[in-house]
Amino acid sequence: MKKLLVMAGMGLMFSASASAVAETLDGRAIFDKNCSVCHSINPPPKLAPPIIPLASRFHIQFKSKTDGVNHIAAYLKLPNKKNAIDQQAVARFGLMPAMKLPDKELRAVAGWVWDQYNPATGRGRGFGGQGRMNSN
Ligand code: HEC
Repeated sequence: MKKLLVMAGMGLMFSASASAVAETLDGRAIFDKNCSVCHSINPPPKLAPPIIPLASRFHIQFKSKTDGVNHIAAYLKLPNKKNAIDQQAVARFGLMPAMKLPDKELRAVAGWVWDQYNPATGRGRGFGGQGRMNSN
């Protein structure tokens, strides 16, 4: 009986990537799997800007989480210099590759990125005094 349960459990794990995952999309898990090779969460950077300073930048730039998540998800699909909020990062690290993930996963990980902003620590390092870069 025990063995059967274990096997059933494993079956669930294997099919998780297809349908079951949609129910419990965990932005952090998506990040760990697809983004953490390049992005650290806190400074210092690996091969890309760390997430927490990026998140604070998005909170300055966008009025609502919806706007922020829309931007991030669209950017992950098609990174380009024109839309990048962090122009310095593009110059320093080069453009990030497009993420070939389902829209749901892009939005989940984008929501997780947005939520990494911590009001207690302010804007994060290196972004002091720049303020809003444009008004939309
Ligand atoms: C191969 C390395 C690499 C991977 C993998 C990667 N990124 Fe990036 N990312 C970068 C680099 C380099 C930049 C800075 C240049 C740019 O904006 O394109 C960046 C920029 C960003 C930005 C800033 C966009 C802006 O508006 O300025 C966000 C947000 C982001 N990445 C999130 C993610 C998330 C979430 C994932 C995983 C789904 C991910 N990245 C995977 C390299 C990577």
